[in-house]
Amino acid sequence: MNAIDWSNLSFGYMKTDYNVRSYYKDGKWSTPTETGSEYIDIHMAATCLHYGQEAFEGLKAFKGKDGKIRIFRMRDNALRMISSSQGTLMAELPVEIFEEAVVKAVKLNERFVPPYGSGASLYIRPLLIGMGAQVGVKPANEYLFVVFVTPVGPYFKEGFKPTPVAILRGYDRAAPLGTGTIKIGGNYAASLVAGDKAHKMGYSAVLYLDAREKKYLDECGPANFFGIKDNTYITPQSSSILPSITNKSLMQLAEDMGLKVERRPVPEEELATFEEAGQVGTAAVISPILRVDDIDENKSYVISKDGNAGPVSTKLYNKLRGIQLGDEPDTHGWVTVLD
Ligand code: PLP
Ligand code: COI
Repeated sequence: MNAIDWSNLSFGYMKTDYNVRSYYKDGKWSTPTETGSEYIDIHMAATCLHYGQEAFEGLKAFKGKDGKIRIFRMRDNALRMISSSQGTLMAELPVEIFEEAVVKAVKLNERFVPPYGSGASLYIRPLLIGMGAQVGVKPANEYLFVVFVTPVGPYFKEGFKPTPVAILRGYDRAAPLGTGTIKIGGNYAASLVAGDKAHKMGYSAVLYLDAREKKYLDECGPANFFGIKDNTYITPQSSSILPSITNKSLMQLAEDMGLKVERRPVPEEELATFEEAGQVGTAAVISPILRVDDIDENKSYVISKDGNAGPVSTKLYNKLRGIQLGDEPDTHGWVTVLD
C-alpha cells in the first residue's frame, strides 16, 4: 500500500481491507462476518433498487494520543438505524449486531485509522438494504447489513473556516410528515439537484426551509443547523429534520458550558440576530456559516463579520473533538474505547 497522506485526506472513498456483513433470512440475522470484496451480488428485483428500501448511518472512530481507538456514540447510530427501518418497513437490526459489526470493521481495518494529530478520522458507513425480489410495492423478506470504513478528512474543503450557504425556495428535501427524520437514501436523492445548484453558485450547502410554510429554518443538506446569540445555543425543531447525534451532543456540551439551549421553530428572519451559526454533523463536525443568502428573495444575512469561526463555535468544536480523541474526559459515556 502506498503511504497515506493523512493530513491531506478529503471526504471520499478509499478502499480498505475488509467490510463486515450480516444477512437477514427466515426471520434471523446471521453472525457478522468479514469479506474483502467491495461488491454486493444483488437480485435485479431487490426492493432497495426499485422501492428505496435502504437506510444508512455515519459515525467515526479516532486514534487518541494513547494510541487507543475510540468510536463515538455507536449505540445512538444503531438506534437511529432501527428508526429508519421502522419508517421503511425493513427488518430491524438488533443494537448488539450493529455494534459487533462496527467494532469488527474498525478492528480489521486498524491500519486505516488516521494517527492522532492528523486531523483525519475513520468514517464508518453502516448500510441496510432490502435484498428480496418483489415487483409489487411491498417490503422485502431478506435484508443485508454491511459496514465499511474509509479514512476521511473534512467534509467541506474549507474545514473550520466559515462558508456561505444558500436558501433555494424552489426545492424541498423532505415533507413535513415524510421521511426527513430518518436516514434513507431517498432524502439524499431529493437533495441532489438543489445541492448541485448551490455548489455551482459557490455555496457549501443548501439551508432548507420548512416545506409547509417556507417560514422556518429546517436543516442543511448533509447537516443540522444551529445559531448562537445572547449566550444561547438555538437549533430548529421540525418534523422533517434528521435528529443529528452531533447536534444532540453539542446541545449537552453547550449546557455543560453554561449556555442556554433552545430547540424550537426558528424563523428565517432570526438569522439577522445570530452572532454565530454552523452546520453540524458527523461528516461536517461543526462547519461555521459565513453568510446565508436567500436567493429568490434577494436577501443576505451576514453571520461571521470577520470571516472567522466565532468563540462559542470554537469552544464547542474543541470540546467535542477533545472527547472524541480522548483528550477530554468522557463524562457522558459517549465513547467506546477498543481494546
Ligand atoms: N442532517 C442530515 C440530513 C444528515 O445527513 C446528517 C448526517 O448524518 C446530519 C443531519 C447529522 O447527523 P449526525 O450528527 O448524526 O451525523
Ligand atoms: C454524516 O455526517 O455521517 C452524513 O451522513 C452526511 C453525508 C455524508 C450524507
